[in-house]
Amino acid sequence: MRLFAFIFFCTISFYGNTQQVSISRRVDSLIAKMTLDEKAAQLHQISNPFSATGPITPVGDYLQQIKEGKIGSMLNIVGAERTRQLQELAMQSRLKIPLLFAQDVIHGFRTTFPLPLAEAASWDLAAMERSARIAAIEASASGIHWMFAPMVDISRDPRWGRVMEGAGEDTYLGSLIAAARVKGFQGAGLGTPASVMACVKHFAAYGAAVGGRDYNSVDMSERQLRETYLPPFKAALDAGAATFMNSFNDLNGVPATGNALLQRTILRGEWAYKGLVISDWSSIAEMITHGYASDTLDAAHKAILAGSDVDMESHAYYRYLPVLVREGKVPEKLLDDAVRRILTKKFEMGLFDNPFKYCSVAEENKQWNNKAHLAEARNIAAKSIVLLKNDSLPDTQKAVLPLKVSGQKIALIGPLVKAKSENLGFWSFDWPDDSIRIVSLWEGVKAAVKDTAQLLYAKGCNLNDADTTGFAEAVHVAMQADIIVLSAGELRGMSGEAKSRSVLNLPGVQEQLIKRLAATGKPLVVMISAGRPLIVGNNAAQSQALVYTWWLGTEAGNAIADVLFGKHNPSGRLPMTFPRTEGQIPLYYNHYNTGRPAGNDPYYGTGYIDLPKSPLYAFGYGLGYGAVTYSKPVVSSVAPKGNETLEVKVSVAYDGNSPRTETVQLYIRDKTGSVVRPVKELKKFQQITLLPGEQKVVGFKLTTEDLKFYNNDLQYVWEPGAFDIMVGPASDKVQMVTVNWGR
Ligand code: BGC
Repeated sequence: MRLFAFIFFCTISFYGNTQQVSISRRVDSLIAKMTLDEKAAQLHQISNPFSATGPITPVGDYLQQIKEGKIGSMLNIVGAERTRQLQELAMQSRLKIPLLFAQDVIHGFRTTFPLPLAEAASWDLAAMERSARIAAIEASASGIHWMFAPMVDISRDPRWGRVMEGAGEDTYLGSLIAAARVKGFQGAGLGTPASVMACVKHFAAYGAAVGGRDYNSVDMSERQLRETYLPPFKAALDAGAATFMNSFNDLNGVPATGNALLQRTILRGEWAYKGLVISDWSSIAEMITHGYASDTLDAAHKAILAGSDVDMESHAYYRYLPVLVREGKVPEKLLDDAVRRILTKKFEMGLFDNPFKYCSVAEENKQWNNKAHLAEARNIAAKSIVLLKNDSLPDTQKAVLPLKVSGQKIALIGPLVKAKSENLGFWSFDWPDDSIRIVSLWEGVKAAVKDTAQLLYAKGCNLNDADTTGFAEAVHVAMQADIIVLSAGELRGMSGEAKSRSVLNLPGVQEQLIKRLAATGKPLVVMISAGRPLIVGNNAAQSQALVYTWWLGTEAGNAIADVLFGKHNPSGRLPMTFPRTEGQIPLYYNHYNTGRPAGNDPYYGTGYIDLPKSPLYAFGYGLGYGAVTYSKPVVSSVAPKGNETLEVKVSVAYDGNSPRTETVQLYIRDKTGSVVRPVKELKKFQQITLLPGEQKVVGFKLTTEDLKFYNNDLQYVWEPGAFDIMVGPASDKVQMVTVNWGR
């Protein structure tokens, strides 16, 4: 059996290597035939001028340019038929090099999945991989080869609108999610059916923009960069990510696009990355505006030297790389290397063998309203919902949620109850049949209760204006009901690129409406849809139950109903800390202790005099129906040796009525270090499902790999000493045991 496995492995790797060798020969022979202009053209990416995702540079007759082999790849072209038409033009060019079609497919294509941040709240890696896989299947059927995702930027600042696109604040969770998404997009590997190239972005540290202002500068130590911001990129690379995108921000004064430390030293040097790097939208030309390049020629020069291979929308490489090579300022080998990388990807994708492989209208049609995909979207949407509060009602002593399916009058109130496309959130696609396909909350609840409960409705107000004329009707409707379910939120377009906000309350008069409804004395469930953690303390105080629904996509209404009525026991856990006010930002769980930590002394502790020191809701927090009890962790040794594996066990008991998924989280704290270490660092987690009355023992294994960090000399080391090992259902609800490791 072992011999068989060995032979099988050798055959596969031999086959893989031979394929690579033959691709590399084919690439070399093609490069040998190319003129300087043809080479530069391969590095030139333009957007469809009619559906751009950034400021457009006039391109002229791009159809003619494709025919003349002057464009290497395109962005924002969608559809089997359209991509076929353009590919046919590329096939008329002298060297017949196929185009690559790229697209921002951030959380689903035809089927919209929850926002990436929302999906991160599921902590369910397999489900996230499946949602990425489905996005790849649907997008590749519409001609797309290259997804500009996953976005793996760690961010600790909910003012930044792009937090919606990432996996939140934690490096460990973010790294696992990055890998899962890459695997989902690329499937069985480039060239296999429905495999699309992932593009890991934005390299690097874009999520740390000062003040949470999009596009802003980033200033941080290299130690912080390596420890907190780079690991998700490395994890994506290790999962096989075909391409990387650099970013808009400058890092310590050098724009990421022109940053050789990032792209040459770390990415291609230390990490030995062989794939392709693309600039962000016009980020090469923007180095002039940054004040880092004097003109477009200088910008092209600096970008190619720093390691940016493909120029998205700056029109700088196409115009100036041939000039720079002719003038001897850029060695032709450097240009060839970049061209080799893009051609290799085109070969690996199988486009030289069949340039039209993703251009089948029949295949595309099969993906419209794919029932299996919609079922998966409903499943992960339900898992993404986070229950933040669920009080017991004084008369019944029972928690407000789940709602009874029958026998009561439910008032569904709020501007999002009947919303359709709003549920999709930013970076999603609107299709012509969306009004039928997207399940509103109203439709989801109606389908859940059928005609066993009476549903009442009032809109109450709009999402973002000062009109309170609907309040009276809302209160009137509420007064007739047994329970009020209110659906409020941001506008869909309030999070996403260029959507930083300085005030994170519910916009418009929604908070006033919540107050008016609370004053009716009826039990009130508040549900909030948003692309980021909002400031929800007031809403929590007014309501008996608070449910965070983010933006959940096509199946939003069904998924919310699944949680409201208990078909799905809520299992989402926050991937970002929820602050009490904007003034606490940046607020994150894995901070340093300081010399005067919060809580040690009533006066002299770090914090604000006008606020409690804790967040409103901590990282990892989320409730479910029923009660879960954790034991104290038990370790296999209190003095493990350097090479020992430490086993940590905890027992989790569940008292409830329906199965419950619990995310058991393990954190460590290195108590003393040559540089100070965070008060907590997530190192492991496991999801278990518990049946009513069940108790399970969950085991973790830790080795010294889990204790490592970057010391002041940027060496990745662990240091012997005392470590707290903490396990619990959230970062602020842990029990602890201390071990002395390696001493
Ligand atoms: C964004 C990228 C995106 C690109 C193409 C840029 O503005 O920062 O994330 O992939 O546009 O749409």
